[in-house]
Amino acid sequence: MALSHAFNHGRTTNTGSTVHRAPWWTGETVAVVTGANRGIGLALAARLAERGLSVVLTARDEARGEAAAAAIRDARPPGLGAVRFRRLDVADPASVAAFASWVRDELGGLDILRQACVILNLIDHAQVNNAGVSFNEIDTNSVEHAETVLRTNFHGAKMLTEALLPLFRRAPTTSRILNISSQLGLLNVISALQKVPNVAGVHIHHKLKDPALRRMLLDEAALTERDIEGMVSRFLAEVGDGTWRGRGWPEVWTDYAVSKLALNAYSRLLAARLAGERVSVNCFCPGFTRTDMTRGFGKRTAEEAGRVAAGLALLPPRDLPTGKFFKWRTPQLYSKL
Ligand SMILES: NC(=O)c1ccc[n+]([C@@H]2O[C@H](COP(=O)([O-])OP(=O)(O)OC[C@H]3O[C@@H](n4cnc5c(N)ncnc54)[C@H](OP(=O)(O)O)[C@@H]3O)[C@@H](O)[C@H]2O)c1
Repeated sequence: MALSHAFNHGRTTNTGSTVHRAPWWTGETVAVVTGANRGIGLALAARLAERGLSVVLTARDEARGEAAAAAIRDARPPGLGAVRFRRLDVADPASVAAFASWVRDELGGLDILRQACVILNLIDHAQVNNAGVSFNEIDTNSVEHAETVLRTNFHGAKMLTEALLPLFRRAPTTSRILNISSQLGLLNVISALQKVPNVAGVHIHHKLKDPALRRMLLDEAALTERDIEGMVSRFLAEVGDGTWRGRGWPEVWTDYAVSKLALNAYSRLLAARLAGERVSVNCFCPGFTRTDMTRGFGKRTAEEAGRVAAGLALLPPRDLPTGKFFKWRTPQLYSKL
């Protein structure tokens, strides 16, 4: 699917010889970004604010979050949508519940007020689950913090999504959920360097070697959220009793890869569950990006990654897919690179 034209983001109108692209969003379109006090999340929130959306920048630390929101407000042109900070620790159910009720009261309240005034309500929502952790150095593979990694990267994103879904469903236009994921959570990698030959000379390296788990994740018609939760619980139990090695889990950044594997699978299921309900769900892998998570190593900057993520979050409704895994701008089969 060629999406380059869609990154122009707008409706095209002709006035004489000039072509105008009007964005589909307004200053009342609300974008929520998690873990947005630094890294890709901060760059993405800044980009969405610059494009004129109303941004709710969230972070688990109040001072760092307030400072990030203030920096974005100071840097952008005046007269655009609001940039608000709200505290949100995605790994803490109480924090997620408090945030969801704030969104309902503040933004949902706006919604009701506008309808009461009989003004056409154009409030849309976009949610970007960006918050993430990995405690692995580039060349290590510790699972010491597996509980935290799974709770943040998978359970946190899922918990927030489920808490906000009722609000998304009320929006009159298509809402969008973009999960910042990773190709480390794909099932396979295809590489000429891999030594596992497959048909027609293509070399496929299965990252997840457990055949039963692979079958389960690939059988989309039968896969359930319970299956995904079961996979995560099994992984954590094996980490807990020290038996996880040699059980077919991904070999690179294992706990992080399992968290993104679960997030990718959940995103696919959610997209299918919400088909026809005007809510799109996609995943985005920014690739190896220079942030604190990679100790400053990487091929691209957080700003470059944030720009592409914003482009995906802002795709015009007619070009907005659902259930896709984007590696950079290219939609992939979620099971393969
Ligand atoms: N960098 C890469 O090469 C790369 C590649 C593929 C995917 N990704 C994904 O991109 C996303 C952003 O990563 P990044 O590279 O920008 O990492 P980063 O610079 O380490 O930023 C991570 C952000 O997540 C926040 N966070 C962590 N735990 C949280 C929690 N429980 N609640 C709320 N926020 C929390 C951090 O907040 P604090 O400041 O409070 O810790 C920070 O704002 C992650 O989902 C990551 O997995 C990154």
